[in-house]
Amino acid sequence: MAGLPADLLFEGARLATMAGPGLGVVEDGVLAVRDGRIVYAGTRDTAPAFEAAHRVPCDGLWITPGLVDCHTHLVFAGDRSEEFARRLAGESYAEIARGGGGIASTVRATRAADEATLLALGLKRLDALLAEGVTTIEVKSGYGLDEETERRQLRVARALGAHRAVAVRTTYLGAHAVPPGGDRAAYLDLVCDRMIPALAAEGLADAVDVFQEGIAFSAQECTRVFSAARAAGLPVKSHAEQLSDSGGAALAARFGALSADHLEYCSAEGAAAMAQAGTVAVLLPGAFLMLNEARKPPIASFRAAGVRLAVATDLNPGSSPIASLRVSATLACVLFGMTVEEAWRGMTINAAHALGLQDRVGSLEPGKRADLAIWSVDHLAQVVAQIGPSPLQARCHGGVLA
Ligand code: NIG
Ligand code: FE
Repeated sequence: MAGLPADLLFEGARLATMAGPGLGVVEDGVLAVRDGRIVYAGTRDTAPAFEAAHRVPCDGLWITPGLVDCHTHLVFAGDRSEEFARRLAGESYAEIARGGGGIASTVRATRAADEATLLALGLKRLDALLAEGVTTIEVKSGYGLDEETERRQLRVARALGAHRAVAVRTTYLGAHAVPPGGDRAAYLDLVCDRMIPALAAEGLADAVDVFQEGIAFSAQECTRVFSAARAAGLPVKSHAEQLSDSGGAALAARFGALSADHLEYCSAEGAAAMAQAGTVAVLLPGAFLMLNEARKPPIASFRAAGVRLAVATDLNPGSSPIASLRVSATLACVLFGMTVEEAWRGMTINAAHALGLQDRVGSLEPGKRADLAIWSVDHLAQVVAQIGPSPLQARCHGGVLA
């Protein structure tokens, strides 16, 4: 009797499906792909017979879901390494921002860069992520802070997905900073009344983000941005509680945010509100490391409240110039006390939740896109326990193996 048709059949692999709680480990696993989707992922014993166009003998290699980097700012121009040196000499991130450096510095450089330049710069950073098994990324705008440049950033972000085998989600972060020399009230009008409805209508943004902080936007201002996003039918996210507790996590939760990110200063109430709303806590240990922060996100409160934990790079030129999700996971374990299992779920299924993509990616389950990372390791801990050459053997996006 002929078997079920498959385009690709991985045999003799060890799977970490991330389906259900834990890693969902399957020793001696089989994974079948048809039309870009997973049609089977499980034990060999229980696998139906497949008639496969291509069989891939895995000989004990590990297969995990393709990694999801759910928080990046990777489309930008310019360089801020000089700020790194200034921080080493004692200036703080907030002081540099108030003095016209920080985000404003990247805004100047990004405005001056044309689309082709931004694309080339973005692809270079993206390639570093892909080399470590990433198959889905989120990219934020927020370094234009005017209509034209914000759109250019979002167009370039979308274009990344046409140039590489990766899925891209775009997030409009107009409320990142008040543009240099700009009027605060007029800028918020532009963001809320013009940009958000227009970007939603154009399909250029999949979500809306804010930076709620003393050096950025207040709770009241973020409330207005969130309201505009919701009115335009876009889900929201928040840079919350990075440098101080301004109630950003609870506010984001009130708007049903997909995620609240950073969260070093998040309170127990913030964690409880996130749990209730199903808002994912996205931890960004790269920013914590590079800003030499002391206050850690309240992982124990998140665990106790049942908040999903994700990890992302926050790849950006200032607070987190780190183009490695794997290193970010390592840092989340070492600096924040996440377990290896939490780090893995944080780069896969929980990161998918942070983008609202949990039904499409993030686990090895029938019906999901065949986004896979194939690892030449003996144990999955090796992927996060070592900083150095990538142990990735191959990557599969939408059923295309590379
Ligand atoms: O996620 N927190 C605000 N925004 C970015 C960094 C922006 C920058 O320094 O360029 C972040 O850390
Ligand atoms: Fe960020």
